Amino acid sequence: MTASAGLYVHLPYCRSRCGYCAFVVSTDDSSRGEYLDALVREAALLAPEAGGSRFDSLYLGGGTPSLVPSDELGRLLAGLRGSFLFEDDSEVTLEANPEDVTVQLRDVWIRAGIRRVSLGVQSLQDAELSAVGRRHDAAGALRALDRLAGAGLSISADLILGLPGQSAHAFRGNVEGVCAAGVDHLSIYLLETEKSRAIEDDRRAHPERYLSDDEQADAWLEAGETLAARGFTHYEISNWARPGREARHNVKYWTRAPTLGLGVSAHELWRERRRANVSALSAYLMSIRDGRRPLALDRPVSDGEATRERIVLGLRLSRGIPAAEVESWIGQQGDPRLPGDYADWRAGGVLTQEEGRLRFTEHGFLVSNEVLCRFV
Ligand SMILES: C[S@@+](CC[C@H](N)C(=O)[O-])C[C@H]1O[C@@H](n2cnc3c(N)ncnc32)[C@H](O)[C@@H]1O
Ligand code: SF4
Repeated sequence: MTASAGLYVHLPYCRSRCGYCAFVVSTDDSSRGEYLDALVREAALLAPEAGGSRFDSLYLGGGTPSLVPSDELGRLLAGLRGSFLFEDDSEVTLEANPEDVTVQLRDVWIRAGIRRVSLGVQSLQDAELSAVGRRHDAAGALRALDRLAGAGLSISADLILGLPGQSAHAFRGNVEGVCAAGVDHLSIYLLETEKSRAIEDDRRAHPERYLSDDEQADAWLEAGETLAARGFTHYEISNWARPGREARHNVKYWTRAPTLGLGVSAHELWRERRRANVSALSAYLMSIRDGRRPLALDRPVSDGEATRERIVLGLRLSRGIPAAEVESWIGQQGDPRLPGDYADWRAGGVLTQEEGRLRFTEHGFLVSNEVLCRFV
């Protein structure tokens, strides 16, 4: 195996569920002790398969990993290091919610080996935050960013575009506010309203509270310009980074580098097999108690699928992928409309080619879903 591998660990516990969120989370943390032990046992089950593979990224995602008490987090990290071989300069990311961040906890994280914190800011407008049930306000998010700063951590923030009641002006302020707070990396997600029945219903009943698709597109392009002017590179559809601060772990997903995943709902790509764990906490715990990995999916990826995945995932990155690979794939599909559409996407400035690599333009990213769904 050539590329170093990445390890994802899912920590599903949250204090409450936010209005828009469909991730696998639990607001009952009574099983947390058993779950953390189970993660270490799952790591041990996987260790023989990982063999001598070297890992250079670890991503603790959730859920709310910042809720895990520091002594339990320390035991978890020690257990993972006992099963997998991590490079000294590994990127170790922890997802955090603003209301959890204290200077003491930050220092505990650093001592435990955390190098990067991804903070769920979502917005810097109190009304937008309370509309989706966030437990922090704007001042709380800025306070958390301030507490994280200046200690050598790489700091990332998540923002959501399209929140209920959000104006283009307010979104602009959110982007400028997190930039001014000194983040190294920013993820901007378009609100996926279909993930929440309540938000979907609200949008139908009160469409005037939501930015239209065109307004969202303008706000997104403007955010890109603001970020470029402040030294950020737009390196993936939803992600911007200062030089050298791209999320190494996430880039593995878009480049099909080997990854393993531990915990409920974790996904992985390992030796050209795609596997996923069960999403139910009880089923996960029961399976680990029985000494088995709780796989809900385990299937080989054929060569054809791998090529298609390289195209669809690789085009999410601004560096794109070799145009020759896309053209050869299109040639093999026998779809009489595809070559013409491909020519139109290029002539229309949706896709562009530089030094043999094909990539979306900034405007092209806005219609990337329509293009990428033709590669299935
Ligand atoms: C796995 S969540 C965990 C983040 C962390 N627990 C928090 O709430 O701050 C990662 C990110 O996904 C984004 N997200 C979750 N649900 C979303 C949705 N329905 N639409 C758009 N973005 C969403 C949010 O920006 C969130 O910060
Ligand atoms: S957004 Fe974060 S805190 Fe809110 S429910 Fe999802 S994972 Fe939990």
